[in-house]
Amino acid sequence: MPPKLFNPMQRRAFVALWAGLALAPLPALAADTSAAQQLERWSAQAGAPGQAERGRIFFTSAHGGEWSCASCHGNPPTASGKHASTGKAIDPLAPAFNPRAFTGSAKVDKWFRRNCNDVLQRECSAAEKADVLAYLLALKP
Ligand code: HEC
Repeated sequence: MPPKLFNPMQRRAFVALWAGLALAPLPALAADTSAAQQLERWSAQAGAPGQAERGRIFFTSAHGGEWSCASCHGNPPTASGKHASTGKAIDPLAPAFNPRAFTGSAKVDKWFRRNCNDVLQRECSAAEKADVLAYLLALKP
């Protein structure tokens, strides 16, 4: 019998380490930020702090099309939403009701881009994103 290089425990740790390293660069999976940091980021880019009331109006209004943000995320977005066309469940957008909301900057950027294009036929401005974040962060249980 040749001596074993690794015992099963060591082998498991080794595999877990490499799996972790392999997944680390996937930005979509990474929790690398917080909702408060997102608010700071957009407020800094806009040059003014986000305003919750303006965010509420923005979030609940249709902008010339059929949908508002609330069509899929709910009004207020404190419970699970439902996709307006597919009916698929969407986790609550308000961070106090969903600890994972706004914790991945790549995910936040991707969905802001996609959803703003769906609702406004353009990207949202930094000021609009700051307002939406201020509104969402003000929602408490
Ligand atoms: C047609 C349905 C739909 C509409 C309308 C919509 N969204 Fe979304 N939104 C989604 C879905 C689906 C997700 C992904 C949910 C998930 O995977 O957790 C999402 C995710 C997001 C996220 C990412 C949240 C996070 O935790 O990273 C943001 C930000 C967002 N939406 C903002 C908006 C804003 C702002 C509007 C209005 C301009 C809007 N959405 C309108 C369906 C929609």
